[in-house]
Amino acid sequence: MVYDLIIIGGGPAGYTAAERAGEAKKKVLLIEKASLGGVCLNEGCIPTKTLLYSAKLKNHAENAKKYGVDIEAASISLNHKKVMARKNKTVKKLIAGIKMRLDGFGVEMISATAEIRSKSNDGFEIAAGDTVYNGKNILVATGSSTVIIPIDGMSEAIDSGFAITSREALELGEIPEKLVVIGGGVIGLEMASYFQSAGSSVKVIEMLDKIAGATDNEIAEILKKECEKKGIEFVLGAKVTKVSQGEVSYTKENNEYSAECSKVLLSVGRRPNIGGLGLENIGVNTEKSILVDEFMKTNIDGVYAAGDVTGKSMLAHTAYRQAEAAVNNMLGIDDKINYSTIPSVIYTDPESASVGVTLNQALGDGLKAKEKTISMNYSGRYMAENEAGQGIAKIVYEEDTRVLLGVHLLGSYASEIIYGAGIMIEQGFTLDDIKRQVFPHPTVAEIIREAVFSIESEGEEP
Ligand code: NAI
Repeated sequence: MVYDLIIIGGGPAGYTAAERAGEAKKKVLLIEKASLGGVCLNEGCIPTKTLLYSAKLKNHAENAKKYGVDIEAASISLNHKKVMARKNKTVKKLIAGIKMRLDGFGVEMISATAEIRSKSNDGFEIAAGDTVYNGKNILVATGSSTVIIPIDGMSEAIDSGFAITSREALELGEIPEKLVVIGGGVIGLEMASYFQSAGSSVKVIEMLDKIAGATDNEIAEILKKECEKKGIEFVLGAKVTKVSQGEVSYTKENNEYSAECSKVLLSVGRRPNIGGLGLENIGVNTEKSILVDEFMKTNIDGVYAAGDVTGKSMLAHTAYRQAEAAVNNMLGIDDKINYSTIPSVIYTDPESASVGVTLNQALGDGLKAKEKTISMNYSGRYMAENEAGQGIAKIVYEEDTRVLLGVHLLGSYASEIIYGAGIMIEQGFTLDDIKRQVFPHPTVAEIIREAVFSIESEGEEP
């Protein structure tokens, strides 16, 4: 039997591709060595969001008095064991849902480690378990793994369980009393937020002089201050030099420091999983990732890749779209991805969301761009729900054409609003097009319209 498509990896890219190809009545085999759902469902997006929702409820309860709700502060606490149990239940339900959908589309699933062996007249040969399977097409969707920095004591610390990655952090039975987070990017900030709310004393050590990676500088700075208000400590511009039991050593401005802690979380980025797949057996081009074109095709006809393994944008929602594009192109439907309008979100409290370019990126690209920043307090809904909120909205546009280039938000609902901004950018909206849109009132989303109208009275408040 020759499958139309063999998929290696059952994360967001793999299971989405399986669903789409199954829906198109293709004979699909999905090979996954661990759990269906990949990092996103098992040890990433969904578990963290479940934990962070409990943290947000606790933060809201602590501030409830400001909203006229009397709760005794002494009675508010986060029960980590119950939070974890709820997280496990949520993950289990979602995985069962995916499995049901795949079954419904007739996708065959096996639990094994796959290795590509060769290409023959019967298509590609892929060994998994004791069997060799043949497929006309392959989609590699093997995801990524946490980067382990090669510093003194790190491998021993990982072996002993003193240093952990987000995977282990999401399985911790106890809250560490003192947690040092190495890396103030997306994972570092989300984990720091949860563990601080759950009772850890958290210190984030970041190599750069700002947190939150490519996030707009002003938003990153306000987010840092908001996290500091909650008790998270940041050390920026620091280089971690050594990890020993109970301690992390680092240098900053040529001085040496050490931070005592009960656990160290490593969140310094992820790298594509390309090893041990047999890609070299059929000549697939790789560098640090599998190299694909805009149609998700590798250099070998019939071999596609999608998700983190491509090293592009490394987000679950990018993986979904890449998988769909790969399957469409396999089916003969031309499908390209526009990476420039993929939103990114940091689910801290307040949350940050952005799409398109920042002003610095636009100017760096040689565009004649401008930006407008307004306080989220110009949204009635935001004011109604946020006492002393520091949220801001920022829009970046091309000065002459007035085409929207970027939207950057910090504040409640930012993650839910941002896709609308992405569509506006994708569709080439100008500021005048935005003015003609009717936004529901009162919503925080209206802040985008407010920001546009405020440009006309440049320098004045709207
Ligand atoms: P990241 O690239 O977002 O952040 C890593 C941070 O570590 C950077 O700020 C970097 O400067 C810093 N760093 C690197 N080496 C360091 C060192 N030796 N010492 C101190 N700091 C150091 O990577 P992260 O947070 O691990 O996330 C990995 C991937 O997962 C990202 O692609 C991210 O987009 C994705 N992700 C997305 C989420 C979301 O969409 N909300 C949630 C979690 C992960």
